[in-house]
Amino acid sequence: MSATIPSNVSQLFKISLLAVLSFFIVGCDDGPNQQSLLANAKSAMPQDAHIASIYQRSCQACHAVDESTAPLVGDKKAWQPRVEKGMDKLLDSVINGYAGMPPFGMCMDCSAQEFEALIQFMAGENS
Ligand code: HEC
Repeated sequence: MSATIPSNVSQLFKISLLAVLSFFIVGCDDGPNQQSLLANAKSAMPQDAHIASIYQRSCQACHAVDESTAPLVGDKKAWQPRVEKGMDKLLDSVINGYAGMPPFGMCMDCSAQEFEALIQFMAGENS
């Protein structure tokens, strides 16, 4: 009886060691961390001056801040499943509003072309 206790303990030790190791391996594979993503999002700016001015007065307030649930500008991992919906669907989301995002993303006078340029910039496809 007494011999089974140490073997159980070492078994448990091995399992927890494995758990810790796999945590680190998965952790390393996670790409850029939230802090660097946020720093990138805050400094990113569309090259086109007109698009940049729209971005600054509307989208940036939600898409480059930590407190928001909006996908961060340039966070390709967050944008990937959205980009897969296709540009038409994304335009539709912005124009009609989507989850936490108000209709027109707070740019009431933006055209579809302007929204498209903003989306491409934010999804990191054209920056
Ligand atoms: C008031 C905050 C806010 C503003 C301003 C805002 N967004 Fe968003 N946006 C969000 C949030 C929150 C989501 C994520 C909603 C979700 O998936 O839960 C989002 C998601 C999106 C999506 C993905 C939609 C989808 O179908 O997955 C696009 C595209 C987008 N925003 C574009 C824009 C553009 C372009 C602007 C500026 C014109 C903008 N947003 C301004 C909050 C905002």
